[in-house]
Amino acid sequence: MSKNPVRSQRFLKACRREATDCTPIWIMRQAGRYLPEYRKLREKHAMLELAKTPELATRVTLLPVERFELDAAILFSDIMVPLWGMGVPFRIEENVGPVIDDPLRTEAQIRSLKSFDAQRDVPFVLEAIRQIRDELGGRIPLIGFAGAPFTLASYLIEGKSPRRLRWTKALMFDRPDLWDELMRRLTDTVIAYLKAQVAAGAQALQLFDSWVGNLSPAQYARFAQPHSHRIFQALKGAGVPLIHFGTETSTLLEAMAEAGGDVVGADWRIPLDEAWRRIGPDRGIQGNLDPAVLFAGSEVVCREAAAVLDLAGGRPGHVFNLGHGILPDTPVDNVARLVDIVHQASLRPAS
Ligand code: CP3
Repeated sequence: MSKNPVRSQRFLKACRREATDCTPIWIMRQAGRYLPEYRKLREKHAMLELAKTPELATRVTLLPVERFELDAAILFSDIMVPLWGMGVPFRIEENVGPVIDDPLRTEAQIRSLKSFDAQRDVPFVLEAIRQIRDELGGRIPLIGFAGAPFTLASYLIEGKSPRRLRWTKALMFDRPDLWDELMRRLTDTVIAYLKAQVAAGAQALQLFDSWVGNLSPAQYARFAQPHSHRIFQALKGAGVPLIHFGTETSTLLEAMAEAGGDVVGADWRIPLDEAWRRIGPDRGIQGNLDPAVLFAGSEVVCREAAAVLDLAGGRPGHVFNLGHGILPDTPVDNVARLVDIVHQASLRPAS
């Protein structure tokens, strides 16, 4: 991968809604189990060991960008990593996700959470960022990320894959004071974590609110939005584009845009043009190909990617991505095809 000034700026320009030579693309979970090189590393190392060892996290981050013409790299880690610093042990179980053996459900547990310090608690993340920037040599930018307070809280309270949010919602409704206290602490952690990532070299940030689609608009407004809003306000001055992502958010896009983000992510359940209308013309949009399309034939991949580009209509501010993370068994050839078709089909004549 050689340095090309047009390519190196494509993603960051699109985040700022500036015109680009073609539409940039990166893929959520682009360094994951669909890659044979990743699976090979996983035979020797657990996922969290990869994330905790700067040399390995760097290697994994670079795997997809060496293979495909992606326009951004994303730090290899997990949204749960900063919670170690708050004194919450967890593990990652294959095909399940993060698991916390002692979920946070009492006032005493919430009050005993420690405050997070990035240099003390996650020096390996900051070192990985420095190494990745070094290896990338300016060829493409590096995205840092964190989980949004609502999504982190739902893992902490449910203990694992928070599908029904039974305990989470019970806490919200029964003890709004305690809920707010937990969310304030998580928000403080996320702000400190993201600021430290930028100081170490992250050139854009994504806030993942993956589970927020379980809230009604009224619940979002009361229990999640003020905290996400505080994060975007605190990072406004950081000088890097901010991406705000959630899934099943068709009823929440306006409120998410209001909470903040230069770019708002949309999943595949909503047509991209409708999502963009709802997010507003003063924001960029990221998305939103259904990850399952990559299991279909190559002509379907081309057609569906072109359909997403058509809905974006060549307007500056579209970052192509899937509507959620790439699935573990996705055929690698279709990923290469997708990246190429997005670049080719969106090519704009130089002005
Ligand atoms: O996007 C990237 O490539 C960067 C790395 C990244 C991972 N997780 C790697 C990972 C990022 C940004 C995440 C964020 C994350 N983690 C989110 C938010 C995004 C989303 O998908 O909604 C969430 C909800 C988690 C929690 C989590 N961690 C889940 C649901 C899983 C998958 C469990 C499984 O096995 O299906 C994980 C583990 C995880 N995080 C893997 C990877 C590559 C797979 C772990 C493995 O190697 O076995």
